[in-house]
Amino acid sequence: MMKSYDWVYVLGVVMVMSISVVWGVRYPVATPKPPQPFTPFVTVYPCDSDPINWPNATHVSNFRLVDNSSLAVQQTDVSMCYDETYLNVKADCFDNNIQSPYSQCNQDLFNADVFEIFLAYGPEVPTKYLEIELSPYGVLFVSKVANTDDFCTGVTDSLIECGASGIVYNATIQDNEWVGILQIPLSLIQETSNLAEPQPSPQLPLYRINMYRIDIPASQEKEYSCWNPTDTSPPCFHKPSMFGTVQFGSNNYDL
Ligand SMILES: *[C@@H]1O[C@H](CO)[C@@H](O)[C@H](O)[C@H]1NC(C)=O
Ligand SMILES: *[C@@H]1O[C@H](CO)[C@@H](O)[C@H](O)[C@H]1NC(C)=O
Ligand SMILES: *[C@@H]1O[C@H](CO)[C@@H](O)[C@H](O)[C@H]1NC(C)=O
Repeated sequence: MMKSYDWVYVLGVVMVMSISVVWGVRYPVATPKPPQPFTPFVTVYPCDSDPINWPNATHVSNFRLVDNSSLAVQQTDVSMCYDETYLNVKADCFDNNIQSPYSQCNQDLFNADVFEIFLAYGPEVPTKYLEIELSPYGVLFVSKVANTDDFCTGVTDSLIECGASGIVYNATIQDNEWVGILQIPLSLIQETSNLAEPQPSPQLPLYRINMYRIDIPASQEKEYSCWNPTDTSPPCFHKPSMFGTVQFGSNNYDL
């Protein structure tokens, strides 16, 4: 036979348990998430004319050193627009000491002056992406990259023959700068991304992209710079979690 204060006790325990269960369900103990790195977002629009009127394209500049300690000295100004077939990229690479000894497709361009762009189709942080490098003398490097650990240690390259890549490209040397042009087939970006097959083109497709320079300046150490710095030292460009997001917008001139 329970005394009345026993019932109060039982009731109390049941209430505390119920509250804990409800509390636990509604306010689960937070598992700490790693902080999300900052990644930039830009909108790229259809090219407005043929030949492309580059000043009207989307501009990306202020490349930072790979360890994000400061702005790069040898700056880069990238212009981008797209058409039905290509993402069109112009890289103005300011450079007081242009040098690259390479002349053949898929040589180790990254050992000298080079502009690089890594691209993947879709909004997610990719584990497969397209790597393109262009030298000041118009030599190309193209690779389908598989990256298992969001770092340089997890990278496997599958080189793509430059002609077969379908990329249209050139580079010209001017006073104190070189200018690289890349017309990158959208189908090539899709084929080298995680998505197994090209998706029906959505209205506003998203790409994950980062861009880089390696430069040998006249009187300094080699400079490694990025659109979005990967915060690495020694330098590692292969950090897809740091790729920015590029959205294909509709024509901006009738906004
Ligand atoms: C460039 O953009 C401006 C509007 O910002 C527009 O008036 C001009 O026609 C565009 N140029 C070309 C060649 O389309
Ligand atoms: C790099 O540094 C700048 C300036 O301090 C900061 O605004 C930016 O978020 C940093 N970027 C990364 C990727 O850490
Ligand atoms: C470089 O390529 C672009 C785009 O294909 C083209 O419009 C331009 O005339 C080319 N420049 C040279 C110097 O070949």
